[in-house]
Amino acid sequence: MERENFGSKVGAILAAAGSAVGLGNVWRFPIETGQNGGAAFIIIYVLCILALGLPIMISEFLIGRYTHANTAGAFRIVSNGSPWKWVGRMGVFTGWFILCYYVVVGAWTMHYTFLSVTNAFYEVPAREYETIFNGFVSNPWMPTLWLLVFIGVIHYVITRGVQSGIEKSAKLMMPTLFVITVFLAICSVSLPGASQGIEFLLRPDWSKVNSTVVLEAMGQAFYSLSLAMGCLCTYASYFDKKTPLAKSAVNVAVIDTLIAIMAGFIIFPSVFNIGMDPNEVGVGASLTFVSLPNVFQQALGDGSVLAVVFSTLFYFLLFVAALTSAISLHEVATAYVTEEFGMSRKRGATLVTVSILVLGTLCSLSFGPLSDVKLFDRNIFSIFDDLSGRILLPIGGMLISIFAGWVLDRKLYHDELSNGGDLKAPYFKLLVFSLRYIAPLAIGLVLLDQMGVFQFLALK
Ligand code: PHE
Repeated sequence: MERENFGSKVGAILAAAGSAVGLGNVWRFPIETGQNGGAAFIIIYVLCILALGLPIMISEFLIGRYTHANTAGAFRIVSNGSPWKWVGRMGVFTGWFILCYYVVVGAWTMHYTFLSVTNAFYEVPAREYETIFNGFVSNPWMPTLWLLVFIGVIHYVITRGVQSGIEKSAKLMMPTLFVITVFLAICSVSLPGASQGIEFLLRPDWSKVNSTVVLEAMGQAFYSLSLAMGCLCTYASYFDKKTPLAKSAVNVAVIDTLIAIMAGFIIFPSVFNIGMDPNEVGVGASLTFVSLPNVFQQALGDGSVLAVVFSTLFYFLLFVAALTSAISLHEVATAYVTEEFGMSRKRGATLVTVSILVLGTLCSLSFGPLSDVKLFDRNIFSIFDDLSGRILLPIGGMLISIFAGWVLDRKLYHDELSNGGDLKAPYFKLLVFSLRYIAPLAIGLVLLDQMGVFQFLALK
């Protein structure tokens, strides 16, 4: 069967950026930045991207484009039958695992878009937002219904194929996402008292930076760039041979970081405008679905048109960000089953969709009827989240960097990186140095930290 490619370089970059820009950019990065030293944190984050994010992203791109195969197939080819082939399979598994809980939050963003557009937050007292959220997620039907819709949209895009599905939707959604982000940031920044919010986000405070902060920045860079989950490798398998790998990787990282910083410009000026303590807004779901709806109502005028438009656009933005990331995760698994088991794209996609419907529903119900099902004191959702993000992801990243730095043929690497000599690659030696030494060591530390080893040894 003829394998599809992306039709244009822009399409390829936007698709990869769509994978990178996701929930992490909005619900984690801004608050981490504000609390951990503002511009100082951003500088450290950018250094992490330069020192390990880009080398690993470029390696994933390279392996995908060189083999033109799904991630498991790609690693099988480049590993020449050695056990390194397992790195690819692990990436596919991790991506699929992340997808199972990621879709649950994607579904929530749809519900909150709906609530915003129907002005459902009008005259809701501040303390009620938590009740609304808890009532929604613990309900057995509503979140499951939205989950069906969210997964339905992903399925539709994936079955349309690489060019008319993934690329076309990325070309539509990424510019939309960018425009909405800029618009919301401008609105928020023009609120009275906004400058304090900007100061909270950006004022460099190096005294806040310690080893934990550095490890957090690394972990965030990894997750945010969608590394080690087969996404970038799979998308790169649809790149044509002329796509410049390093330049594309830099583009993706720049877009991802810009959106993350702008998300901070949306959030903190509004938070300060209503005189809320930024250290109380929470992170993740509690920030996004409990604190922010309240903040936006109060900052923009309870029930006003502006408040409705602002929060609708904000949740729609989150929806688009989550959707493009979820599509990339779905594609990893779809490419895997279709190519490795010789199925049609439609059948392969359906198989993946059904599997995430089942597991996603279990994750979703773990906030309601299944909340008593626990392992290591975690509900089903957290098991998926923690296992993939804290353990599988860093292990995968470390293995990819070791493989790319030590095992993959150097000449092959250089040839691919320079597109057969067409491009100059003066950074090649640095790249290999990072892949060999810096990245494995740094990720190893993140892994130990995520597993709580430092805490256990009372080093933190
Ligand atoms: N990068 C996405 C985010 O920032 C998450 C993601 C991880 C998406 C891995 C795909 C693969 O939210």
